[in-house]
Amino acid sequence: MKTLSLALLGAGAALLSLALADQRPLQLKHDNVKRPNIVFILTDDQDLHLQSLDYQPFLQKHLIDRGTFFRRHYCTIAICCPSRVSLWTGKAAHNTNVTDVSPPYGGYPKFVSQGLNEDYLPVWLQAAGYNTYYTGKLFNSHNLENYASPYPAGFTGSDFLLDPHTYEYLNSTWQRNREQPISREGEYSTDILAEKAFGFLDDAVSEDNPFVLTIAPIAPHSNAKISEGNVSEEGGKHSFQMTAPIPAERHRNLFQDAHIPRTENFNPEKASSVSWIRSLPRQDEENVAYNDHFYRSRLRALQAVDEIIDGLISRLEEYDILQDTYIIYTSDNGYHIGQHRLQPGKECSFEEDINVPLIIRGPGVPEGEVADVVTSHTDLAPTFLKLLGVEPKEDFDGVAIPITRASIDQAKTGRHEHVNVEFWGYGIEEGDYVLKKPDFALHANNTYKALRLIGRGYNIHYSVWCNNEHELYNLEDDPYQMNNLLDPSEGHASDSSSSSLLGFPLLKVAARLDALLLVLKSCKRDECIHPWRVLHPAGNVNTLWDALDSVFDQFYVEEQAKVEFSRCEPGYILDAEGPKQALMYRDGLRWSEWV
Ligand SMILES: *[C@@H]1O[C@H](CO)[C@@H](O)[C@H](O)[C@H]1NC(C)=O
Ligand SMILES: *[C@@H]1O[C@H](CO)[C@@H](O)[C@H](O)[C@H]1NC(C)=O
Ligand SMILES: *[C@@H]1O[C@H](CO)[C@@H](O)[C@H](O)[C@H]1NC(C)=O
Ligand SMILES: *[C@@H]1O[C@H](CO)[C@@H](O)[C@H](O)[C@H]1NC(C)=O
Repeated sequence: MKTLSLALLGAGAALLSLALADQRPLQLKHDNVKRPNIVFILTDDQDLHLQSLDYQPFLQKHLIDRGTFFRRHYCTIAICCPSRVSLWTGKAAHNTNVTDVSPPYGGYPKFVSQGLNEDYLPVWLQAAGYNTYYTGKLFNSHNLENYASPYPAGFTGSDFLLDPHTYEYLNSTWQRNREQPISREGEYSTDILAEKAFGFLDDAVSEDNPFVLTIAPIAPHSNAKISEGNVSEEGGKHSFQMTAPIPAERHRNLFQDAHIPRTENFNPEKASSVSWIRSLPRQDEENVAYNDHFYRSRLRALQAVDEIIDGLISRLEEYDILQDTYIIYTSDNGYHIGQHRLQPGKECSFEEDINVPLIIRGPGVPEGEVADVVTSHTDLAPTFLKLLGVEPKEDFDGVAIPITRASIDQAKTGRHEHVNVEFWGYGIEEGDYVLKKPDFALHANNTYKALRLIGRGYNIHYSVWCNNEHELYNLEDDPYQMNNLLDPSEGHASDSSSSSLLGFPLLKVAARLDALLLVLKSCKRDECIHPWRVLHPAGNVNTLWDALDSVFDQFYVEEQAKVEFSRCEPGYILDAEGPKQALMYRDGLRWSEWV
């Protein structure tokens, strides 16, 4: 009271704001409007489908049992840097045009040249009064040469792993705030990360502002030696030597009996999917044994991450802020090992690659709950802002994830049911088994658009590749995606009269899916959230069931433009990508009548 009246008596605006700043924490606590904190743990290449979560007891105990597990959470592009850029901006990769891990199509330099370093979540959080801390891997191609030109914007405190040593578990290089990079040869990357994360937590709680702390370990990514300068050359595989991840010494011998789940799609007798995947040889015993070793190495490497979760919870408890803090756990993309005969890697649109862990614990989030709402990484930036009470950006391609019981229940009927997945460039095989076979490793033309659609009574994957091959899986009957309903070599597509899906002729369903994908592949903002409304501005079609009405048959099957490519490109080159705009259905009139 005294300082306030002094200020009013003319002691000046500076003193007034000082006095208010002094009082704020106390006042907020009293009014019970204390703003929450977020701790965000972002792992690298962690699978959901190969059961890695089952090997993380602290994740189970502190997050899954005490929070909500979003089991239908997807990345929208299954490779690190583009996925992270989408996550931090709330935009699809076709709107960031950061589509690769290195220039010209991606990497940190592309993030910067697209103007995104001034326009992403950490910057918005700081503007909203949050202190922001980050340690670990930010983006690929953020390296010893470009780390200061410019520095990543938006952090109160940062300590980044830098290329070319980002993925070396035992020889990492770290760059703190505005300081010179430091090599930590011989020390274990995830343990260094823990020390830095807990240091930032101490810093954060010593300040008045609420905070967002991101902890981004490299585990369980492959251990990778990168020789810069070779990345874009033909045979660029030699520039990434990706071998099994290296666990901490104390975890080296765990899980001796663990092996990759032998699901129907694991190294199958019958090849499946599109041509480059269908032509993969079946893996021999030595290869499978190596891949099981690779799998165990991932589980072991995740143990040091699991310990961070435990250390984090006990510190938040000691600081008495656990109840005010959201903890969000996810991975940039998923991972496959041996499914569809693939060597270890990602970049595909199979469930293993795109359906990733997401667990949220915090104030108001149901405990021990499994949610079925369909969510994706482009929803995370909107979610962060919503949790922290900050206005969403108008140009988000995603929408906040419901996190209270009431909003999760409401979303069961109200929320959209699709995920838009895209990819440009190479399919990359990892692991030292591959290094011995120089003709494997890189598969060009792994460029595709894919759609996941999960609604009442259907669970569908549809994709169109840059060579115009198509895939359609009915995951209700075929959860391992072994039976491509549009595979011409199986006689499927040409014989539409005998094939059906959801009780409709197959090609009628496929036409709806194709139109939805056509909207999504170039969508912006609200179109990405409500794509059916682009096709049906009248607003009477909001689900696949609605669109399957036979009044729309001619519109979809005959009149609508189709998703297609004129050639394969390693990046988002518009003139290779066929039609960009879908025709609209208007007021009961078919398009042809309406024009
Ligand atoms: C570790 O990284 C440094 C560069 O930061 C390099 O000079 C050194 O040779 C590396 N050591 C090993 C064992 O690879
Ligand atoms: C590029 O790769 C080749 C083949 O592995 C290697 O001999 C060469 O040293 C690499 N060049 C650079 C600049 O790293
Ligand atoms: C990739 O696509 C391009 C352009 O469509 C084509 O010329 C090339 O042969 C394809 N490469 C492979 C390995 O399929
Ligand atoms: C995306 O970036 C690439 C590389 O800079 C460029 O060639 C391409 O035209 C861009 N695509 C779009 C749609 O802007």
